[in-house]
Parts: sequence; C-alpha cells; structure tokens
Amino acid sequence: MLDKSRVYIAPSILSADFSCLGEEIRDVERCGADLIHIDVMDGHFVPNITIGPSVIKSIRKISRLPFDVHLMIKEPEKYIDEFVDAGSDIITVHEESTIHLHRALQKIREASKIFPQERTHRVFNNVLCGISLNPHRPLCSIKEIINDIDLLLIMTVNPGFGGQEFIERMFRKVQEAGIQLKRKNTLLEVDGGVNDKNAKKLIKSGVNILVAGSFIFSSKNRRNAINSLRG
Ligand code: DX5
Ligand code: ZN
Repeated sequence: MLDKSRVYIAPSILSADFSCLGEEIRDVERCGADLIHIDVMDGHFVPNITIGPSVIKSIRKISRLPFDVHLMIKEPEKYIDEFVDAGSDIITVHEESTIHLHRALQKIREASKIFPQERTHRVFNNVLCGISLNPHRPLCSIKEIINDIDLLLIMTVNPGFGGQEFIERMFRKVQEAGIQLKRKNTLLEVDGGVNDKNAKKLIKSGVNILVAGSFIFSSKNRRNAINSLRG
C-alpha cells in the first residue's frame, strides 16, 4: 500500500513510444519509477482515444509496479470490472463523468473482492479508488464523498493530451486540498504539466503522487528526470 508520508513518481505512459510500450515501461521502472500511470480516454469525455483493459492486461505481465489507472471515460461504472480484472491497482474516475459517482466508487471496492489479487496479478490487495477533478471543478464538489475515497487527483491541465503547460492557478486548489487532507489517509495526486520547476512547490503543498508524462519520457536521462521530481 502507499504511505501518506512519502512522495511517489508516476510516469504517464501516454508520452511513451507505443511501438515498444513494454520496453518503455521496463525502462522507467529501472530508472526508479514508483507507479505506472495509465491514461484511458474514450473520445467522449475527452477529445482523444487511447487504450483499454486488454493493453493493461498484457503490460501487467511485464511490470511489478502498481498500475495507477486514470479513467477519462463517460459512465466509468460500466467498465470497472474489466479494468480491475486487467490488473489495475488504483482506479480514478472523474467527478463529472457519471451521475452516480458514489456507485462508481462502490463498484471499484466490490470488484476488488470479485477479482482477487492472485487472479489479476495486481500489486495491492485491494484496489484503491480515487476521484479526479478537472481544472474548473472546486474541491467542495466532492465534500460529501471525500471520506469514501483513497485518493484525490487534481488535474493541472485540461485532460486529453500530454505535453501541455501547467495551469499556475491550480496551485491554490492543490494547497487547499493538501490542508484538507492532511489529517486524513487520503492521498493527493497531481497530473498535468509536472516538471522539475513546479515539483518542489507541489510536494510542499502535500502532494503524494506526481504524475509526469512528457517531462520523463522526453528526457535523455530518465533516471535524473525522475529524481529531480522528488524535491
Ligand atoms: C492528461 C493525462 C496526463 C498526461 C500528463 O489528460 O491525464 O496523465 O499524460 O502528461 P504531461 O506530464 O506531459 O502533462
Ligand atoms: Zn492522467
């Protein structure tokens, strides 16, 4: 399980070379990655289409790192079983992606029992469930279910693409989330435009998981890139 007092670096494979995805994952694992961040997009919730459960199932065989699966899809509750069965360790759904957000979280918890760890080869015994907030969504929108989640993911770019610029105004939301979650076990994750310039301030704000795609995968020295994010 993840320790709230630590900082984890999660390379986003959206920026990897998909023609040799397995080798790219092995490489960031060798270079010190803590988690593998997997962006799932459906062309409806976001204007891009990426990968689904079958790809996750096949890369599950080549990595022992926890898989952090970021669902940017409409009505994610319909697909939770497939993503848990494929070997996800963390599943995050977007707050506005479903009318029944609480039910989606329940499905993630239930699926952990239906698809046990041995069958799925996931790293964690129970799949962690998270909610993601788009840049325009306030923290208070999840006030009623904040105690039902293991992780809060704050988007610091608009979801859909790698390589975008960090939205500076998001610092305030991240700082506020850091304060609100300080005494809870809930992990705080930030995704979008993360690099060695903003990582330190994010960690100081209480962030536990830093997702970085283009910064790590486009770096000539990925080990240095990962280390430079640790603050
Ligand atoms: C964006 C994705 C991110 C993206 C981050 O929709 O959720 O995970 O891959 O990429 P960078 O770090 O390049 O902004
Ligand atoms: Zn992501």
